[in-house]
Amino acid sequence: MEAIDPVRFLSNRSSGKQGYAIASALAAFGAKVTLVSGPTALNDPANVSTVRVESAREMLEACQSALPADVFIGVAAVADWRPASTAPQKLKLKGQAVVPPLELVENPDILATFAKAGPSRPRLVIGFAAETQEIEGHGEAKRVKKSCDWIVANDVSGDVMGGNHNAVTLISDGVNEVWSHTTKDIIAHKLAAKIADFFA
Ligand code: PMT
Repeated sequence: MEAIDPVRFLSNRSSGKQGYAIASALAAFGAKVTLVSGPTALNDPANVSTVRVESAREMLEACQSALPADVFIGVAAVADWRPASTAPQKLKLKGQAVVPPLELVENPDILATFAKAGPSRPRLVIGFAAETQEIEGHGEAKRVKKSCDWIVANDVSGDVMGGNHNAVTLISDGVNEVWSHTTKDIIAHKLAAKIADFFA
């Protein structure tokens, strides 16, 4: 969520349900989990250390504070852009002839930052790709562009954002596994099981 002024912000339809389900599933597998969460109505999951943030820049900082880690999973629907400045007071409607422009600047890419090679890179870096068309093709392109190991290509058509169900393809270097329409809890369990296998 990116503030425009004290009462207005830029955001999207993500509820946090998929990310919270993944955090819970990993904790159930015995992992020590830090969940860095943007604004959501959900309660903190049990057995997970939850850090609440608002903006992309705060999310990046909180994730970096959680290092070292074996795995990084980027499920958040991070805002690609934020207002160039946040007004300190509520912007007023002054009867202007033209609508005031909203200048945007690019946010840091948290997933790409974590996937960059270096001594603090988690061994397994997993991203999500929210797509409405050419799901696998665009997902694989994002995996390569952002240098992550796996990408969960997410078909976000319909009510996936905010709803209780999801449909994804796990793409891991040439291997595609389709997990068709099911609950977000089941997707989370499957992903946690894959991660446990990777470290077994
Ligand atoms: O929250 P729910 O209602 O349960 O919905 C779940 C979900 C649909 C939001 C989730 O499953 C999902 O698909 N999350 C990814 C959303 C997204 O922002 O996708 P993207 O294709 O725009 O971004 C690709 C990847 O880069 C993602 O891992 C994202 O976290 C990451 N990113 C994007 C921009 C940015 N500035 N920093 C990032 O780290």
